[in-house]
Amino acid sequence: MKRLLVLSGDGIGPEVMAQVMRVIDWMARKGRIQFNVKESLIGGCSCDAHGTALTDETLAEAMAADAVLLGAVGGPKWDGLSFKKKPEQGLLRLRKAMDLFANLRPAIVFDALADAATLKLDVVKGLDLMIVRELTGGVYFGEPRGIEILDDKTRRGVNTHVYTTYEVERVARIAFDLSLKRNRKVCSVDKANVMEAGVLWREEVTRVWDEEYKAQGVILEHMYADNCAMQLVRAPKQFDVIVTDNLFGDLLSDCAATLTGSLGMLPSASLGIPLGGQRRALYEPAHGSAPDIAGKDIANPLATLLSFSMMLRYSFDKPDDANLIERAVQQVLSGGLRTADIMQPNKAKVSTTVMGDVILRELDKLVI
Ligand code: IPM
Ligand code: MG
Repeated sequence: MKRLLVLSGDGIGPEVMAQVMRVIDWMARKGRIQFNVKESLIGGCSCDAHGTALTDETLAEAMAADAVLLGAVGGPKWDGLSFKKKPEQGLLRLRKAMDLFANLRPAIVFDALADAATLKLDVVKGLDLMIVRELTGGVYFGEPRGIEILDDKTRRGVNTHVYTTYEVERVARIAFDLSLKRNRKVCSVDKANVMEAGVLWREEVTRVWDEEYKAQGVILEHMYADNCAMQLVRAPKQFDVIVTDNLFGDLLSDCAATLTGSLGMLPSASLGIPLGGQRRALYEPAHGSAPDIAGKDIANPLATLLSFSMMLRYSFDKPDDANLIERAVQQVLSGGLRTADIMQPNKAKVSTTVMGDVILRELDKLVI
């Protein structure tokens, strides 16, 4: 049986995860895929219980699991904690320790939601792009880092943006491989006009393409990150796969998420290198813990549900089950049901729990 570690985390994490757990139970009941599920703490709830955002035990459980499903971490309650103790550090430590270097963030516009986006319908309708964000390097982890006090008692804050050939190569290959199953178009995003690490990024991506993917018909283009932000809101359908570093990927994926109508719709997969055939992997919605709406049963569980469907696809090679979930989501949206974040005129607003109910009902209908 597959081992699944569930880390619901903080804020809306537990309530959206509860709906996904119902789908996991449904999968088992129908004999489709069965998990040995363990639950543990990460983020603020772990700070409260254990004084650290990620305990060594939970990290060991994550390392031993076939996949990890995560809700969200953080919230104002923990704002006062020192930097090293913050809830976010649990997530960053998990990503780094599991060596989850490739973060896949697909931005897909469901037809039923195309007019929920803030952009014009024809700009986003039919959009299907994949952002591949490097997740364990760059300025998030570079050394030296810290805040130091200068002789005149003023301070100096330092972070280091750094990439090696190896780090760029491996994430570039993930992007190129994905593009082979899509439209064979990769846009690599950097700031090679101002950063040496950006020059290196561009050169290494180009070399991998030239040596391994050009002959397979993959088209590679390069774009500066600022231009990419602009192009994403101007003409997002020009993109197929975007590959970029940790920080630019963080920014650009929020931007891309908005194209889909709501951050509440955007799933993600974070993958490591294959170990004996299987990759370490963590799946999480791209949205945060949304503390302002936590506990109100109004959050959108679909990004977490779609993250679970990415898990079925990428970790367990169950495309049929993944498609089933995606079809159920489509049907529910076409039927006019919406959580508050994607609410539109003349649609029916439903709670988190009711969204879970109707997804299950749709799944039942689909397998008859
Ligand atoms: C994300 C988040 C995280 C990040 C935070 C919570 C540390 O914004 O997954 O995009 O910056 O990577
Ligand atoms: Mg982010």
